[in-house]
Amino acid sequence: MCGIAGYIGPGRAAPILLKALSRLEYRGYDSAGICTIFGGRVLTRKDVGKVAEINSRLRMDELPGNIGIAHTRWATHGAPSQVNAHPHTDCTGRIAVVHNGVIENFMALKKELVEAGHLFSSKTDTELIPHMVEEYLKRGSDLTEAFMRTLQRLEGSYALALLDAGSPDILLVARKESPLVIGIGPDFKMVASDITALLDLTRDVVFLQNGEAAFIRSDGVKILRVDTGAEIFREPTRLDITVEMAEKQGYPHYMLKEIYEQPESLKNALRIQEVYADLVAELLDRGRQIFLLGAGTSYNSCLAASYAFSSLARAATYPVIASEFISNYGASIGADTVILAVSQSGETADVLNALEYARLRACTILGITNTVGSTLTRISRAYILQNSGPEIGVAATKTFTSQVLVLSQLALRLAKLRGKIAQYEIDEIKSGLKKVPEMAGEVLDSVRLKMREVAEKLADKNTIFLLGRGPAYSVAAEGRLKIMELSYTPCIAYPAGESKHGPISVIQEGTPVIFIAPYDDNRRLNIGSMMEMKARGATIISIADRDDREIEEISDIFVGLPRVHPLLTPIIYVLPFQLLAYYMALVKGHDPDKPRNLAKSVTVL
Ligand code: M6R
Repeated sequence: MCGIAGYIGPGRAAPILLKALSRLEYRGYDSAGICTIFGGRVLTRKDVGKVAEINSRLRMDELPGNIGIAHTRWATHGAPSQVNAHPHTDCTGRIAVVHNGVIENFMALKKELVEAGHLFSSKTDTELIPHMVEEYLKRGSDLTEAFMRTLQRLEGSYALALLDAGSPDILLVARKESPLVIGIGPDFKMVASDITALLDLTRDVVFLQNGEAAFIRSDGVKILRVDTGAEIFREPTRLDITVEMAEKQGYPHYMLKEIYEQPESLKNALRIQEVYADLVAELLDRGRQIFLLGAGTSYNSCLAASYAFSSLARAATYPVIASEFISNYGASIGADTVILAVSQSGETADVLNALEYARLRACTILGITNTVGSTLTRISRAYILQNSGPEIGVAATKTFTSQVLVLSQLALRLAKLRGKIAQYEIDEIKSGLKKVPEMAGEVLDSVRLKMREVAEKLADKNTIFLLGRGPAYSVAAEGRLKIMELSYTPCIAYPAGESKHGPISVIQEGTPVIFIAPYDDNRRLNIGSMMEMKARGATIISIADRDDREIEEISDIFVGLPRVHPLLTPIIYVLPFQLLAYYMALVKGHDPDKPRNLAKSVTVL
């Protein structure tokens, strides 16, 4: 996730764009830049760091010119660096582009442009866009046609804005999947990734839709469909919303906003870079023993992934809590050990400490993280970005589901590499994975009210049990973490089969026991465990297959979800728990974005 903005009008563009960037920084903050057109040239200032720091060094706001574009970055392709920061330009320096999204076919397109003689300076996918527009201009297209032809060749997601020093009276923008809004002023126009960046200037906006391009002059906007070139006429909408409301996109808390971002973050998690994913799978394949290492939520993703690696690739992997790794496994590791570390921040001290120990023993270190440039990316032999965008809420939500989705794709690649799975099964699973983002959106909408009711019922309980088997146990573990950290209610998560070896003694009349009971091979056993708990007076809350009448009858509270492949259980079944924890925090009067005693990134041992 990145933030983009653009301005054209009578005012000086740079200070307006700087203000817009500070409002968009929540979308990414590893580097930023602004460029304007002045005196027939594109003038650019960009660097690594936060917007305010960069501006105090480079005075981006002092750039002259009445047209400009700007970017604040959350790196996906290419580490945060001055050269990778946006805007990016073509060989002549005449065309500049800012972009939010991921161009999936950039390797092929870049190769083609390099063969045609274009010189690239960055490692980003974005840079191919100005070069391709330059190429079409060279071949005789005018700017509009060059822009449209370029867009037609891009696969993936984008919200982008483009300037041409040769046409200083027009701003070109386009959108596919990543958001873009156009602010309409009487004598100026402004574009941005979201309305927060332009509400100061105007409340009249046009929301660009997927597959549309817009050609913006200070006195008018022309919208075309990218595929057909057909013109679209759309009246501006008048917004009645404050900047503060807009920052959380209408949600009262970042956590709820991030929960509802999952359809988008899951889509981004499906866009892992093929070459790195193959490399990670190959390196995993070489390991005599494979450890999956993480802390907190990231450890729970590792738990979920051990099911995926076993069932798909027939590979035994060991999920380990990072702080336990050295004592319990340290003496057994060596050059044939592979450690796949999972960390949203890439900076968790327990993870890095374990990895440093492993590095000194010649283990292969691999990483999955949300943060390019983090220590984890620097010490990993290969790493994969989960592309979730910044997560502001202390409780991990969208980053968990994305981690599981990335890990599942890796398990699938390893399965293919090892020849453990037929091609038709791979295709089936892949098409199932592609449906996850949409399904996540449907589930969130369908269970929200129910989870608010459940939260009210559970808010005054002293203890809550969560039980599940196989992939559903990782949901129990993650549900426990969410409920505990946000509502401060002690929770006990157990593999359901183990609950009879102790936890059952704690059950009394009315003790809430939440079963994660999808329609899988463990269903019968789950029903058995439910009956055991019910017989001792437990209140049974089931998160189960929506058509499972038998479980519905046994349960005091029943939350129905769609039937899913067990691989997807951790992603789909965790969603009600994120909402439950959120609403329990509200019922108990806690701030869900800032739970007590916790930090977003724990950088102490
Ligand atoms: O950045 P990481 O994924 O390494 O962070 C690990 C934990 O600190 C993190 O998951 C924490 O437990 C969250 N607050 C869980 O919601």
